[in-house]
Amino acid sequence: MSAVLIDGKAFAAGVRADVATHVARLKQEHGITPGLAVVLVGSDPASSVYVRSKGRMTVEVGMRSVEHKLAADTGEAELLAVIDALNADPEIHGILVQLPLPAHLNADLVINAIAPAKDVDGFHVSNVGLLGTGQKSMVPCTPLGCLMMLRAHHGGALAGLNAVILGRSNIVGKPMAQLLLGESCTVTIAHSRTRDLPDVVRRADIVVAAVGRAEMVPGDWIKPGATVIDVGINRIEKPDGGTRLVGDVDFESCVAVAGAITPVPGGVGPMTIACLLANTVTACCRANGLAEPEGLTA
Ligand code: GUN
Repeated sequence: MSAVLIDGKAFAAGVRADVATHVARLKQEHGITPGLAVVLVGSDPASSVYVRSKGRMTVEVGMRSVEHKLAADTGEAELLAVIDALNADPEIHGILVQLPLPAHLNADLVINAIAPAKDVDGFHVSNVGLLGTGQKSMVPCTPLGCLMMLRAHHGGALAGLNAVILGRSNIVGKPMAQLLLGESCTVTIAHSRTRDLPDVVRRADIVVAAVGRAEMVPGDWIKPGATVIDVGINRIEKPDGGTRLVGDVDFESCVAVAGAITPVPGGVGPMTIACLLANTVTACCRANGLAEPEGLTA
């Protein structure tokens, strides 16, 4: 048996097309252009690549893109002043501070300085609390993208399924657990101290792997027919000295057992930016008292 491939690249293109349609309507019917501001401190190469592609895709769907690139030694007060100005700017509907921040900055303090309504990453404690209590919030982009693909693959019928999430990060594992609880799944968060991990994963109808360890999950941990969502993006060396990207699951052995699986690259990755754009449109609609776009929120 070979699993169905969940094509995140195509799915993300569909989400971006939906976002573009809503942006065009906001402009035409209300004279509003959604605006997204990205703040990058320092010049970490991976972060710079992400920020560039975020900016390009923001413009491609018709939104306004603003980038604040600050020196690596920017002080806390200066960064907070930039965030305060963006909070007060009515033309900015979404604010994202690229992580990781340089070590001298307190990421929690910086994130919690963003106005919750503009927190399109969904990392502000207010949004975390709203999500955890089943209230309307901004939802972190990567788990939102995973949820959209899971809903689509399962025809919305997620209730009662056993979901095992590998990884307890604030960015993916914890919000993913809240979202799947919201879908009435039975949710387990497994992590580096979990006992009998293979047996825990074998009980899962849905596996979400978000640990950042290359090819950690072998096929014999996967229940036949399970849906496997691979959030990992790990660069490993090839025998010829080059490198390639792999996920947190061993694709070759898992694809033979799973019912459906996301590839790396081309699975979860493209959905993250698509959901950032979706969150920005949602934030813009809320800020203007307009109906939210359907299908783009949790
Ligand atoms: N760095 C890696 N992933 C993310 C993300 O989803 N949001 C932000 N702000 N920074 C990141």
